Amino acid sequence: MSTSSSSAVERDFKRQFFKILFIVFVALLVCFLLFFVNHNENNKYIMKTLKLNGSAEAGDSIFKMNCVGCHGITARGLVGPDLHSITQRLNDKEIIKQVRGGLTPPMPSFEIDPVNMSNLLKYLHSLE
Ligand code: HEC
Repeated sequence: MSTSSSSAVERDFKRQFFKILFIVFVALLVCFLLFFVNHNENNKYIMKTLKLNGSAEAGDSIFKMNCVGCHGITARGLVGPDLHSITQRLNDKEIIKQVRGGLTPPMPSFEIDPVNMSNLLKYLHSLE
């Protein structure tokens, strides 16, 4: 009698355990898929941007509209750092991540299309 009741408890416990395990597994799977899709889209964006040959002048006006408040009108730095010779320190991929990522507050993330991003890169290269 006592053995059968304890095994029922055991079975119940096992069922609960596998249920939780299953939920954790599904949650991890969803996280992984989201990460993968996001990563893939970022890669596509970077490839597209790097294929374009932007215009430094157009990039200059994008910079004036979005970046001068923190990096200064001549990109010599204000709240944010001086961006002259930034292209010697960071490669284009890293700069794209910096601008789109919002990984270093207070610098925000920017929603910028590949054409404008390419222009911005050309402008930053022209600062050297
Ligand atoms: C709200 C202020 C702000 C704005 C607007 C802003 N930045 Fe920044 N930016 C910063 C700060 C602060 C840092 C330094 C972050 C850190 O590394 O701690 C930074 C860092 C950077 C860096 C990396 C510098 C380095 O030495 O690693 C790049 C490149 C950059 N910004 C480009 C831009 C561009 C391009 C724009 C416009 C599209 C922009 N930022 C707009 C504040 C800003």
